[in-house]
Amino acid sequence: IPIERIRNFSIIAHVDHGKSTLADRVLETTGAIKPSSGNAQVLDKLQVERERGITVKAQSASLLYNYNGSDYLLNLIDTPGHVSRSLSACQGVILLVDANDGVQAQTVANFYLAFGNDLIIIPVLNKIDLKNADPDRVAKQLETLFDIDPKEVLKISAKLGTGIHEVLEAVIKRLPPPHVERDSSFKALLFDSWYDRYRGVQSLVYVQNGQINVGDNVTYYHTNKNYEVKMLSILKPEEVFVKKLVAGQIGVICCNMRSSKEAHIGDTVHKTGTPVEPLKGFKPVKPMVFAGIYPVDQSQHVNLRSAIEKLALNDSAVSISIDTSPALGQGWRLGFLGLLHLEVFTQRLQQEYDAETILTAPSVTYKVKLKETKQTLKAGNSEMYITNPIHFPDHLTVEEYYEPMVLGTIITPDRYLGAVLTLCLEKRGVQRNASNIDNERVMMQFDLPLSEIVIDFHDSLKTISSGYASFDYEPTGFVSTYLVKMEVYLNGVAVDELSSIIHGSRIDTIGRRTVLKLKEIIPRQLVQIAIQAKVNGKVIARETLKAYRKDVAAKLYGGDITRRMKLLAQQAAGKKKMKMVANISLPRETFIDVLKK
Ligand code: GTP
Repeated sequence: IPIERIRNFSIIAHVDHGKSTLADRVLETTGAIKPSSGNAQVLDKLQVERERGITVKAQSASLLYNYNGSDYLLNLIDTPGHVSRSLSACQGVILLVDANDGVQAQTVANFYLAFGNDLIIIPVLNKIDLKNADPDRVAKQLETLFDIDPKEVLKISAKLGTGIHEVLEAVIKRLPPPHVERDSSFKALLFDSWYDRYRGVQSLVYVQNGQINVGDNVTYYHTNKNYEVKMLSILKPEEVFVKKLVAGQIGVICCNMRSSKEAHIGDTVHKTGTPVEPLKGFKPVKPMVFAGIYPVDQSQHVNLRSAIEKLALNDSAVSISIDTSPALGQGWRLGFLGLLHLEVFTQRLQQEYDAETILTAPSVTYKVKLKETKQTLKAGNSEMYITNPIHFPDHLTVEEYYEPMVLGTIITPDRYLGAVLTLCLEKRGVQRNASNIDNERVMMQFDLPLSEIVIDFHDSLKTISSGYASFDYEPTGFVSTYLVKMEVYLNGVAVDELSSIIHGSRIDTIGRRTVLKLKEIIPRQLVQIAIQAKVNGKVIARETLKAYRKDVAAKLYGGDITRRMKLLAQQAAGKKKMKMVANISLPRETFIDVLKK
């Protein structure tokens, strides 16, 4: 296929607006797959994706489409839900919007992502078969928000297959062919990778220049590692092996790579010994949201470890470190790119490995700048990143604290405006702007601390808006802030795993809430327990849990001896699960309850 007849595109959409359905119709229309009778979506492979309605793993397809007598190569590049770096391989996108739901938060975020990448945008309204669909209203929203000419907007039903040819025609007519050079040295963009048990790490690449043959040696630019190309293939979407890949094509390089850490999304692949200018778009990924994960039953430790390791093979963005908690045992601290990433990973863990786990409440990475001392001068670096309260430095040594921020976009029917504003202010949000997108919907943007949205924010937003408000965010970097470490003491002894890093303005609320919650869930003991929350050594909240006498066997005394033995044995087993803190036995459940929220 000559370069002029190649088109590279992605479909971007808010959750549930029909991306997978449209992708399937496109595959059917181009003859890549047989028309499906059921709902099984080819591009969305994993169960978790179907259930949660998000596309996680990029899964792309090279399609042949005959238009006006000529064959075109249409490369449909699927973008994973949390990162859209695959966009750098595209010249345009289909911006798919539900004609009933209208523009939602992810639509806005997606639009700007594509717009910022200088991509051509083909606006498409889906689900026009629905009784309540109002394509004209939604087209108007697109005009108000993005200056899109309503005449350019296509109207389709992916479900019924109406308008699919028009979509493909628009892809061919409105998008330019890719800027590729077949005669220069081989250069390809790595935009997805996954692990195959027999073949190792597979790299999905977009060939920008030149060509690559089986047997060639390649270098991954940013890791500077060399490999021999063992196999090459094209996904149609089923895998077809080829001898070479040429500029303009999308294909899989299999080169005996063993660790997914060597396949950095956005890296440039070139022939060994023929260096090239790397493609732009490479950003080392940095986990932003952290959570501890522990097996419910410590005897499951090995199983959980292998489950986590297997999943991580397919996801080079997740970071893993060992974490030990006296109360929860051996576990791991996992780092994720964002909330969606965390949810997807832990859901997969549950579904694919059936592993029961305790997941602690998510936290974020903070940054502190230490005061200048001999040590910091010697180390040459006074900045440190903190993901775990245990490593929080003494406040006297700190010059400045920083926390990660996001720009959050919320779209809501205007009747919930007040409630949404209240929620965002409560979460320390600062409103950036607000605009009407039609006569009943408002779009608002807030600067919000990431730490405030990692727990509960999405759920609260849905609750206060009866499910109608949508939310999306993008990270905007660190800003100066005021942080403290809150510690929890039981009868004067600090319980490390209950400490947390909180914003200075939240000391009172969070302190009170924590001690009250602990009072509620710690079982009464033989001794009275003082529950204290402290900041910088000062008590900020306190509750007392009264003593309680409990003698399980007493009421059975003189009764059946075997029954009594059994009861005592049970109690002994129960005690094993307890952690002793200051002579107080705390059941694991207490920690689980507190750490989860
Ligand atoms: P995720 O991949 O889950 O983010 O969502 P998606 O955007 O891929 O949506 P998906 O294709 O899974 O469709 C979401 C729901 O909308 C499904 O129940 C589809 O059957 C339905 N749907 C998709 N297209 C149409 C359409 O044209 N008309 C109607 N009535 N329903 C549709």
